Amino acid sequence: MNALEILAAEERRGPAPRLHAFPLPAEWGVTLHLLDESVHPTGSLKHRTARAMFRHALRTGRIREGTTIVEATGGNAAVAEAYFARLLGLPFVAVMPRRSSPEKIERIEQYGGTCRLVHPPLAIYDEARRFAEECGGYYMDYLANGSRAVAAEGEDDVGRVLLDRVTPEWVVVGAGSGATSTAIGREIRRRGLDTQLAIADPENSAYFPGWALGVDDYATGMPPRIEGIGRPRMEAGFTPSLVDLVVPVPDAASVAGMRILQEVAGLRAGPSTGTALWAAFQLAAKMCRERRVGAIAMLICDDGALYENTYCSEAWLDGKGLNPLPWVDAFGRFLETAKLPLTSEHL
Ligand SMILES: Cc1ncc(COP(=O)(O)O)c(C=O)c1O
Repeated sequence: MNALEILAAEERRGPAPRLHAFPLPAEWGVTLHLLDESVHPTGSLKHRTARAMFRHALRTGRIREGTTIVEATGGNAAVAEAYFARLLGLPFVAVMPRRSSPEKIERIEQYGGTCRLVHPPLAIYDEARRFAEECGGYYMDYLANGSRAVAAEGEDDVGRVLLDRVTPEWVVVGAGSGATSTAIGREIRRRGLDTQLAIADPENSAYFPGWALGVDDYATGMPPRIEGIGRPRMEAGFTPSLVDLVVPVPDAASVAGMRILQEVAGLRAGPSTGTALWAAFQLAAKMCRERRVGAIAMLICDDGALYENTYCSEAWLDGKGLNPLPWVDAFGRFLETAKLPLTSEHL
């Protein structure tokens, strides 16, 4: 089998996507659906993006036998790339901040990857580029290339998978590289749907202020705290013209979202899913206010078990000054009144 056939076979073996329902009061006529992207072998929606990036790099001749794959992150993207590199028999190196947790390092080493720890954290990008040049490898650079690869390798599109299952009024997702939101926005248009696309954006991210001001290259220069989504600057893979609304979500509300998802729906997901869930509640409140009925759809991005020592730990949350309790209370009132404190004047 050649490398592209190996990737196709891996995709065929993949799990069937599951669509869960979050219970909202039936009398609202608003339903909330979650496509579980944590079911992939590497546990996150970055599995699809990584597969598309490997396909694209193979088809465009950027990787061949023996090429070392380099990525600048210790997050879900690196884990997924380590998995595909091993599947194709290629060496993989993640360049990541020196203070990365042992759990993160272990997730990459588990797939045979090597971690190169650097300081300061923002040096990972230059170091990944430099190291790839030095070893004659390929810097995959999911932030710059993920969106383009997904667009070019359409068969792996999360938009198709989601919209085959549900035709919602709103889809709400987070944006890191912008690959996922762009793929979904494109698929909505390809199908000619009236579905609107909302982005759930954490504190410090550039996407909300950039979108609200109508600027395509806004930068906050501050790192967001919700892993996987929000960026200190708007990335090139994010396509504002495909986006109808950006919902800013306080970080404590993202943590509340994570807890509520587990307690109410029995689904354990990471903090970025909590961000999207809180934005979905805001959209449900908006639909109730406007007396509209229909569905809202979102993704479960990764498993909450990865955050046992961080977003699931009271001590860690205290240390970060994050208190989800007022937001959990607001959710209780939301179920009774269909009203929520708005986090944006655009809602
Ligand atoms: C809930 C959620 N939605 C969407 C994304 C999309 O990320 P990207 O814009 O890099 O495709 C993420 C990334 O981790 C996420 O956690």
